[in-house]
Amino acid sequence: METLLVDLGERSYPIELGWDTIGSLGPYLRSLIPAKSCTVISNEEIFNLYGAPLLESLEKAGISANIFLIPDGEQAKNLQTAAKAYDALVANDMERNSPIIALGGGVVGDLAGFVAATYMRGVPFVQVPTTLLAQVDSSVGGKVGVNHRAGKNLVGCFYQPRLVWIDLKTLSSLPVRELSVGMAEIVKYGVIQDQDFFCYLEENSQKVFDFDPSTLAKVVRHGCQAKAMLVARDEKEVGIRALLNYGHTFGHVLETLTDYDTYRHGEAVAIGMIAATKIALELGVCKDKGILGRQLDLLSQIGLPTQWPKGLPKERILEVIKLDKKARSGAIRMVLPIKLGEMTVKRMSLEDIEKLIDYL
Ligand SMILES: NC(=O)c1ccc[n+]([C@@H]2O[C@H](COP(=O)([O-])OP(=O)(O)OC[C@H]3O[C@@H](n4cnc5c(N)ncnc54)[C@H](O)[C@@H]3O)[C@@H](O)[C@H]2O)c1
Ligand SMILES: [Zn+2]
Repeated sequence: METLLVDLGERSYPIELGWDTIGSLGPYLRSLIPAKSCTVISNEEIFNLYGAPLLESLEKAGISANIFLIPDGEQAKNLQTAAKAYDALVANDMERNSPIIALGGGVVGDLAGFVAATYMRGVPFVQVPTTLLAQVDSSVGGKVGVNHRAGKNLVGCFYQPRLVWIDLKTLSSLPVRELSVGMAEIVKYGVIQDQDFFCYLEENSQKVFDFDPSTLAKVVRHGCQAKAMLVARDEKEVGIRALLNYGHTFGHVLETLTDYDTYRHGEAVAIGMIAATKIALELGVCKDKGILGRQLDLLSQIGLPTQWPKGLPKERILEVIKLDKKARSGAIRMVLPIKLGEMTVKRMSLEDIEKLIDYL
C-alpha cells in the first residue's frame, strides 16, 4: 500500500494505491470519516465483480451500506439518473456525514461525485476507480458532473473527494480496449511533463497488457502524481492545469463529429495529440522532429488510432472549435509540444486554425 497526497490545503486528500485492497476499505474509511452508514454508487457489471468484498469490509467496520446501481454506459451520466440517486439517498435517510462511495469507471465517478457535491450541499465523497482511465485521470482532481443534451459534462462543478482508493487488481478484468484508452492519458503525461517516463513507456507499455503488477503500479502511480501535481498548483484550471488538455482540442472535435460512438475518449485524444504535434511542427513551435514519430510508434504499440479520419468537412470542424471557444470565454488555447516534457499554450484565432486543418 502506498500513499500519494493531493495537496490542496484544507481540501487535501490521500490517494491510496495497492493490489487487492478493495476488501480493506472499511476500517480505513471508518477512521477517516466517523459515519455509521454510506451509499455505494456503481453499475451492475462492476458491482457483481467487486461489490461483495467492498460490502463485507464496510460491514465489518460497522458501516451499513446502501447500494444505488446505475445503468452501464455514458448515457446514464445525466440529471435523470442523479435525481433517482437523490431519491434513494432521501429514502435511506442519508445524513450530512454519510459518505458516497463511487465504485466504477469515470461515468460512475463523475455522476456519484456530482450527487455527493449537491446532496445536502455536499456530503463526503470517496472514489474507488476501477478503470485505468478513472485511476489515472477522472478520480483525481475533483471535476464532477453530468451530460446534457446540448453537451458532454455541461452540468457540473469542482468537488474534491476525501479519499481515492485504488485497487490495481481491479484492472485485471478490464477489456483490452479500456486499457488502451486509459494508456492514452498516461502517454499524455509523458509528453507534457516527463521525457524519462515517456522512454519508460516506450520500453514497457506491453507489460500493462500482461497485467504485470509492478508495471501497472508504476504507470498508475506516475499518472496520479502527474495529475495531482497539476491539480495542486491550479485546482480550478485557470492556468497550468490546462496542459492536461493536450490532444483534447482536436480529440473533442472528433468525438463530437462522430456523435461519441466511433471513438472512445482516449482514442480521440490519441489522434488529437498527433494533430497537435503536427500543428506544432508546422508552426515551428516544436523543436524536436523525432517527437512525432515516437508518439506515433508508442500510440500504435498501445493499440490506439493516430490517423485523422478523411472526409470530415472543414466547416464542421471549425464549428465545434467555435463552440468550445465560446464555452472557454473566447480564447482557443492550443496546448503544443516544444519537445518531450516541455509544452506551450498558444492562443489561436479561428482563422489560424482554419489554415492548419489541411496539415492534420
Ligand atoms: N472528471 C474528470 O476529470 C474526467 C476526466 C476524464 C474523463 N472523465 C469522464 O469519464 C468517463 C469515461 O470513463 P471510463 O473510460 O472509465 O468509462 P466507463 O466508466 O464507462 O467504464 C468503461 C467500461 O468499463 C466497465 N468497467 C469498469 N471497471 C471495470 C472493471 N474493473 N472490469 C471490467 N469492466 C469494468 C464499465 O462498466 C464500462 O462498461 C466519461 O464520462 C468522461 O467524461 C472525467
Ligand atoms: Zn481526457
